[in-house]
Amino acid sequence: MKLSFALAALAGLAEGTITYVDQETGFTFSEYKAAYSLTANIVFRFALPSNAPSGPYNAVIQTVVPNQLGWIGLAWGGNMVRNPLTVAYPNGQKATVSSRWATGHTTPTSYTGATYTLLNAGNKVNGSHWQFTAKCSGCTTWTGTSGSVRIAPTSSSRLAFAYSTGKASTPSSNTSSIPVHDTPNYFTNDFSQGLNPNFDALLQRNGVSDTGAGAVFVDGPL
Ligand code: HEM
Repeated sequence: MKLSFALAALAGLAEGTITYVDQETGFTFSEYKAAYSLTANIVFRFALPSNAPSGPYNAVIQTVVPNQLGWIGLAWGGNMVRNPLTVAYPNGQKATVSSRWATGHTTPTSYTGATYTLLNAGNKVNGSHWQFTAKCSGCTTWTGTSGSVRIAPTSSSRLAFAYSTGKASTPSSNTSSIPVHDTPNYFTNDFSQGLNPNFDALLQRNGVSDTGAGAVFVDGPL
């Protein structure tokens, strides 16, 4: 039995991907509650377009994180090295989202292959949690250790996450240094549970345009 499953079972937490419809942004997300202790989890949500082109395409990522955590990271390829890392930390009443890439088990550096735009809604902090909601261009395709990778929107794939109770040193900066994580962990997310036929319109409703899906596979401009 995997440790994450054992933890979730002990804590009575939900395990597996479900569909979550977010009233605030209007997006339908695939949702996974990743247990990181006996009693607490990080909620990861992914909204993808149902009409994604065969190359790069945009995604919306939303997370809900207990206030005890100083930063969290999501590895789109399921391990630390050579895949887009979405790192986030609270900054006042919102979170800073930081695009990173690691070539080894050392502090990841800034990654320009993926860019994030916070939506007008779904970004907040309260007495128990912090939450961000962002469009990512460049999170679903990349060049990994064995070549081109693309997350198929209708598939399940293994993701990894990392977290720390330690804080970012400069929370307002998306290149802040962050302390090393506690034990990282993995989960399988079923992206097909978060498909949106009206993806572009929903982005617009939330103040974000759907241009620039990233250019990992293409030679010319998009
Ligand atoms: C802040 C600086 C970071 C340092 C110094 C660091 C360092 C390390 C080290 C030393 C390991 C190996 C642990 C072991 O074998 O026992 C590791 C593993 C791992 N780290 Fe990081 N890490 C950092 C940030 C991140 C971030 C931002 C992520 C984003 C998700 C991440 C995800 C992982 C994962 C998933 C593993 C498991 C092994 C693997 O998949 O490669 N790390 N890290």
